[in-house]
Amino acid sequence: MRIDILTLFPAMFEGPFSESILKRSIEQGILDIHLTNFRNFAYDKHRQVDDSPFGGGSGMVLKPEPLFRAVQHVKTQSAAQKKRVVLLSPNGVTFTQNKAKELAEYEQLILICGHYEGFDARIEKNLADEAVSIGDYVLTGGELPAMVMVDTIARMLPGVLGSAESAVTDSFYESILEFPQYTRPRSFLGMDVPEVLFSGDHAKIASWRKQQALLQTVKNRPDLLENYVPDEEEKKFLSS
Ligand code: ADE
Repeated sequence: MRIDILTLFPAMFEGPFSESILKRSIEQGILDIHLTNFRNFAYDKHRQVDDSPFGGGSGMVLKPEPLFRAVQHVKTQSAAQKKRVVLLSPNGVTFTQNKAKELAEYEQLILICGHYEGFDARIEKNLADEAVSIGDYVLTGGELPAMVMVDTIARMLPGVLGSAESAVTDSFYESILEFPQYTRPRSFLGMDVPEVLFSGDHAKIASWRKQQALLQTVKNRPDLLENYVPDEEEKKFLSS
């Protein structure tokens, strides 16, 4: 998958793509990441990318021309058929595991990062296919959201994680949180691993894990249970 990131601050991306799983997937050719500074597509003397808002008001607004040109340019850099232009904005639809799954199907993803200021509305309306927000908070720019999205999408691509199962059993695919995991030592500073995990009874362990996942969800994310269809065993546990 090719991902183009359009940003005024390409240096911000130097760290995250040069470590660990993302680094490996780039080396393996599964991920092909290209950074483009869209200031290079501002053709006036001062290479101006923003201007004051029509109608008045404070702050600056990102101009349409450099971004329209930059998107046009990166589109020509790939023969991909399935392309998606995504604007990172706190006004966008919320980024979720399902949204990541949907975006992971494209061959070329073009992420547009603003910084400080808003975008001229024609960028969202006429250039981007959609606007995406990573959550209900405002960051100084779209760079961190782009990193979050690339990381989430990358781990869904075939070959990125060790086994195909690992992404499927993650939280949110089943709409509830994951069960707690334990490893050695069995006892640490008086904190013991639950006995059931040593029982050797796989059905009992599976049932305990299901209950723990439900408890965790009730505690931290009760909203997820609104859309969750529990099986008979879970129903009984929830009503107990
Ligand atoms: N830019 C600033 N805040 C953002 C957010 N929450 N999501 C996506 N882009 C942003």
